[in-house]
Amino acid sequence: FTVDWDASAAEKGGWPSFMDKEIHEDPEAVANTLLGRFDEQGDIVLDEVHIGLDVFRQIDKIIVVACGTASYAGMVAKYAIEHWVRIPVEVELAHEFRYRDPILTPRTLVVAISQSGETMDTLMALRHAREQGSRVLAICNTQGASIPRESDAVLYTHAGPEIAVASTKAFVAQIVAAYLLGLYLAQVKGTMYRDEIRHILEQLKGMPEKIQWVLDNQAGNVEQAAKQMVNAHSFLFLGRHVGYPVALEGALKLKEIAYTFTEGFAAGELKHGPIALVDAGEPVVVIVPSARGRNILHNKVISGIEEVKARGAYTIAVAELGDPDVEQYADVVFWRPVCPTLLSPLVDVVPLQLFAMDMAQLKGYDVDKPRNLAKSVTVE
Ligand code: AGP
Repeated sequence: FTVDWDASAAEKGGWPSFMDKEIHEDPEAVANTLLGRFDEQGDIVLDEVHIGLDVFRQIDKIIVVACGTASYAGMVAKYAIEHWVRIPVEVELAHEFRYRDPILTPRTLVVAISQSGETMDTLMALRHAREQGSRVLAICNTQGASIPRESDAVLYTHAGPEIAVASTKAFVAQIVAAYLLGLYLAQVKGTMYRDEIRHILEQLKGMPEKIQWVLDNQAGNVEQAAKQMVNAHSFLFLGRHVGYPVALEGALKLKEIAYTFTEGFAAGELKHGPIALVDAGEPVVVIVPSARGRNILHNKVISGIEEVKARGAYTIAVAELGDPDVEQYADVVFWRPVCPTLLSPLVDVVPLQLFAMDMAQLKGYDVDKPRNLAKSVTVE
């Protein structure tokens, strides 16, 4: 009697790859990042963030510095924090930020987002910000790494170790940490009522279950779509509002591990150029906002799908269950459960993570170790 066992299979917890395991840990990463960050009254408590309340009250601008996937988490943060806290949030690629002359004051909070905590570009950007007198808060997944060590404060994401080069569970955890920061600022600055904050917190607590629903109910659908499109040479991804960074992240995932040429862009840009790329059979992935509440963006995105469809595109939509229009125009739909718009990136990214992984596996690539890439980029 022999048992097939090896150390690497055990580390993957029975999953064929770390990426597979880590995508399935998305719900846990969200739940764990929320854990202990609020009290029984529903107030946000960020005890570990050692920046005084008076300093937080004075903050009049946030600049997020990050690279790759972490920068897309920052873009999601911009939509939420500007809406909740009413202060401007800029998001800048760390390598661009450090080589220009950004306007930084002691009232600017620089938020450095990094899974590894060792990304050289992000580290140099935060050093630059501190030299100019701004405070830096790190959102990081790695305890004691250089970025949290050199920051004024740190808000750890509790996604657990991420081994696959393509970031998945760390991304959703980064978004949650950024939401917590936004709600905390809203609480400290009094830009939202306590009940409103509590309500969002309750909705956030429900997100792991919604992500789990996607994993349980859409994986088959996604795999089938990947099989159908495995030979496609390029993909376009489009989204609006918080769907825009999700489109960018979906495009990056497919690029990174399936080596497929992708472009992600804001759906409103379609007619300003990218629509020229749409030809018969071109796969276009569209993140569709909810139709609830007469959301004007829903109709605009649906008409974007119509436009590319009319030019022969093969359309894949990520849309909300019960969407009254999407099935008419999309060839394939990856469904998400009903959830608040600002929180929807947490679920919308999941089928795109699965899709990239399925495409890479079908092509026979090592999904955990894509060519030419390192897990943390410690050089410029
Ligand atoms: C994500 O899939 C990529 N491997 C990459 O874009 C990554 O997010 C980026 O290099 C930033 O890494 P960090 O979060 O460790 O700073």
